[in-house]
Amino acid sequence: MAKIAFIGAGNLASAIVRGLLAQKVGAPADLACLSKNGATAQKLAADTGITFEPDLAKLLAHADTVVVAFKPQSLAGADPRLAELTAGKLVLSVLAGKKLARLAQAFPQARNLVRTMPNTPAAIGAGMTCWCSLAPLAPADRATVEKLLGALGQFLELGEEHMDCVTTLVGSTPAFLFEFVAALRDGGVAAGLPRATAQKLALESVLGSAKLLAQTGGEPEELRDKVVSPNGTTFAGLQVMAARQFRETIKETILAGTRRAGELSRD
Ligand SMILES: NC(=O)c1ccc[n+]([C@@H]2O[C@H](COP(=O)([O-])OP(=O)(O)OC[C@H]3O[C@@H](n4cnc5c(N)ncnc54)[C@H](OP(=O)(O)O)[C@@H]3O)[C@@H](O)[C@H]2O)c1
Repeated sequence: MAKIAFIGAGNLASAIVRGLLAQKVGAPADLACLSKNGATAQKLAADTGITFEPDLAKLLAHADTVVVAFKPQSLAGADPRLAELTAGKLVLSVLAGKKLARLAQAFPQARNLVRTMPNTPAAIGAGMTCWCSLAPLAPADRATVEKLLGALGQFLELGEEHMDCVTTLVGSTPAFLFEFVAALRDGGVAAGLPRATAQKLALESVLGSAKLLAQTGGEPEELRDKVVSPNGTTFAGLQVMAARQFRETIKETILAGTRRAGELSRD
């Protein structure tokens, strides 16, 4: 595999590195990293066997692909030499909300640019990442992008016009689901269960249901209807959800997140 340099060595860079190594699509000798103060990069290198290279020019001289993995707000203050040092290289950004046009200002001579939107289950290889590129990817670059994103879980190419929606539907859904599990737990507690028991039952029911839906592959409504019997327990609960406009609430949640993502990605 061509050499890959990571600029930023925090949670997400670490998840990609560990995924590449675990899936054996990358060897430690192919990967190198640096970070702002060095500590996170040194730790990642020590933990995984990849190279810690504090000199940006040296790091990039040996790399064909550059993964930009610091916080979005760090882009403005990033090393200005990145503009020249990424010349001719494939640059993949995980910076939430940074558009391809903004990335093209920071990395004007890159061979191609890829904007991604992962989510936090990436940390355990169960992520969903959407991506788009500045220009259509050459086959070898597509293979590299798919290896990198495959290290985090599932991935899907989408037009950049959908990235604001994806920022909330993919990026925020873990938080929405955690909130849902918490609400189920609180319902169980209100009905008399011990808190820890209620949380376990809520979590395992959500987990199993998501797996069943993924494996069955149909519409969620079909599986829902298999649980409902006329005037039964589920029917009673769904009536409350409908009366309290559950679907409308969630739709508005996604639309609000999409609008906010649009506002945040303007710079
Ligand atoms: N975590 C996720 O699951 C997730 C999900 C979706 C998107 N993202 C995106 O992933 C990116 C990174 O998030 P994270 O959670 O991995 O962050 P993080 O754990 O805070 O790590 C940030 C890393 O960037 C380094 N850094 C900061 N400024 C830098 C600079 N100017 N040059 C080089 N390195 C620099 C830090 O170095 P020091 O430690 O030395 O300061 C650190 O290694 C963000 O843009 C975020 O939008 C993350």
